[in-house]
Amino acid sequence: MNPAERTILTHGIWATKAVASQTPLPEDAIPGAGYVAGIPRLNVPALKETDAGLGVAYNLGVRKDGATALPSAMAMASSWNPALVQAGGAMIAAEARAKGFNVLLAGGSNLMRDPRNGRTFEYFSEDPLLTGYMAGAAITGIQSQHIISTIKHLALNGQETARHFGNVVITDAAARESDLLAFEIGIERGNPASVMCAYNQTNGYYACDNDYLLNTVLKRAWGFKGFVMSDWGAVHGLQSAINGLDQQSGEQLDPKVFFGSELAAAAASDPLYAARLKDMNHRILRAIYATGLDTHPPVIAPIDFKANGDVAQAVAEQGIVLLRNQNNALPLMASAKSVVVIGGYADSGVLSGGGSSQVQGEGGPAITIPGGGEGRASSWRSENYQRSIPLRALQMRAPQTAFTYRDGKYISDALAAAKKADVAIVFATQWMTESADVPDLSLPRGQDALIAAVAAANPHTVVVLENGGPVLMPWLDKTAAVVEAWYPGARGAEAITRVLYGDVNPSGRLPATFPASESQLPRAVIPGSDKNIPAFDRKEAVNQPLDIDYNIEGADIGYKWFVRTHAKPLFPFGFGLNYTSFSRSGLKVDGKELTASFTVTNSGARAGADVAQVYLTDAAGQATQRLVGFQRIELVPGESKAISVKLDPRLLANWNGKGWTVKGGIYRFALGASAVDLGTPVNASVAGATLKP
Ligand code: GLC
Repeated sequence: MNPAERTILTHGIWATKAVASQTPLPEDAIPGAGYVAGIPRLNVPALKETDAGLGVAYNLGVRKDGATALPSAMAMASSWNPALVQAGGAMIAAEARAKGFNVLLAGGSNLMRDPRNGRTFEYFSEDPLLTGYMAGAAITGIQSQHIISTIKHLALNGQETARHFGNVVITDAAARESDLLAFEIGIERGNPASVMCAYNQTNGYYACDNDYLLNTVLKRAWGFKGFVMSDWGAVHGLQSAINGLDQQSGEQLDPKVFFGSELAAAAASDPLYAARLKDMNHRILRAIYATGLDTHPPVIAPIDFKANGDVAQAVAEQGIVLLRNQNNALPLMASAKSVVVIGGYADSGVLSGGGSSQVQGEGGPAITIPGGGEGRASSWRSENYQRSIPLRALQMRAPQTAFTYRDGKYISDALAAAKKADVAIVFATQWMTESADVPDLSLPRGQDALIAAVAAANPHTVVVLENGGPVLMPWLDKTAAVVEAWYPGARGAEAITRVLYGDVNPSGRLPATFPASESQLPRAVIPGSDKNIPAFDRKEAVNQPLDIDYNIEGADIGYKWFVRTHAKPLFPFGFGLNYTSFSRSGLKVDGKELTASFTVTNSGARAGADVAQVYLTDAAGQATQRLVGFQRIELVPGESKAISVKLDPRLLANWNGKGWTVKGGIYRFALGASAVDLGTPVNASVAGATLKP
């Protein structure tokens, strides 16, 4: 590289037509999230970047060509099936390639610290092990297609309110044992070529200008060899290069291009910058070559939407969680004479999440409920439904049943139909989007009242939830059944129908705790939400700092918080019903090998899959609860399988400031059907150890 070439790969543009109207897009750029010029003289390809972890993004109003939408990350994690999530990653990466992209801005791995976070649907879970396994699987699948994947957003980007400057306050140990552990495991298992640093501050330093996060932890302690790209509009100065940032993304959204001529000038006069610039290029080039972007350039090709839809449907089917099923209300009998379908735009489509991860199929959204707003936020304010129609899927599944549809806008209208039908199926929606948090966990637009009224009028009321994250259910006890379908993706209606009719035995398990009330959460409200600070404003714009105190819960996120506060959730982490039944027995833990072995039996009358969970419940006298292993197992009736899972020693340890300390002593473990449904604990003697980070 000659000096002029050394600051080509270090910065890129937000490649949307709208923004580029000020400056024409480079001729080889594809409208999308980002573009970083290549170096043709050296055969270094340009980076053509698209969002995100749920498929090739449709957002920003510029991509009108459709893609296959995976279900939300929350749904993917509900499958507890890394192999399936890996297949999903490979599928969306193949579509990215077919559209000419070579970078997929995927791997959203922030832990769900607050279920009101607007991006809850984009992230996997509240637990570092489950999130790390899911992120690692997704990234492995994506990069198997010679597409660079990110893992994002490092770190502690737990809310959208004031995301550009909110300052997370958390001890090193709490961060290491929670959010950072999720990234550490995800990076180990997925080997992402790139990490995207977040907008927010952590302990006073912006994530993309954070020497501790990027140099001390990511690059030195974890040995990360790839490159750190900024989030779009997250760069605060040239010194970010010294603090570990390798590439400025979406440079039009920053006060200036720091990593172009300004970086070149610094490198020309300052050996520190010259050495850093060499490393920046080395890291980016290494990522390009390690992922094969040079030897396997994307080839524009048609997309097999049928085959890819099958992958999305498989993920949706395994991600659906059966939360309630009174008196075997489900599976539905195809012989039911009349079924009324109410609400949720179930006659038109299934809900999807807003923001940079928004994916739409061919022809775009089935329905868009415009949300107003202007600028970058406007395209993220519209509530979009994907073209998979529950009413039609139900009618095709049970042609002899008389289905009627009511939109649910008027309770009187819905009741009139519900009173006459054998079964009422209410589709309830909670829309979430990047750039905005939800004010509470109720179902908006009067849906809670609608469900309560319908359930009171028809004892065979089934609720199907299409939501981004945990919601409250004040009507729960009045219903016959509740199915958690999340944002179910391109074939969501078909997946929901197959579960409702028992063609698929639901096996999903909750990756996040559903609280019984918001008062059980660590914070009364999302910090800053009472100050109405939009997500896009940088600190200069609002001129008021905002601390976000994660030391309240520290590493005790989700079920760990409920154990600590002795609170009873509405539905616990790991929970999910089935149309058959399973028994788990014989747990043994080898304290030397750190393996847990047990047997799972299908004691019911139908084939199905169980998700056995191994929890640590006491660490050498320290009462605790941590998921330390899990396995999804498919079994036919009467079949038993002996399972063995490897336990990660870091999950038995505490962070000691420089590494992990495993205290010697007796550890207790239990096999769980959820975080609260635990079998008899067993003891294992574990030798003390100190683990390097
Ligand atoms: C967004 C998101 C990030 C996305 C990027 C590019 O603001 O925070 O997840 O990949 O910009 O669209």
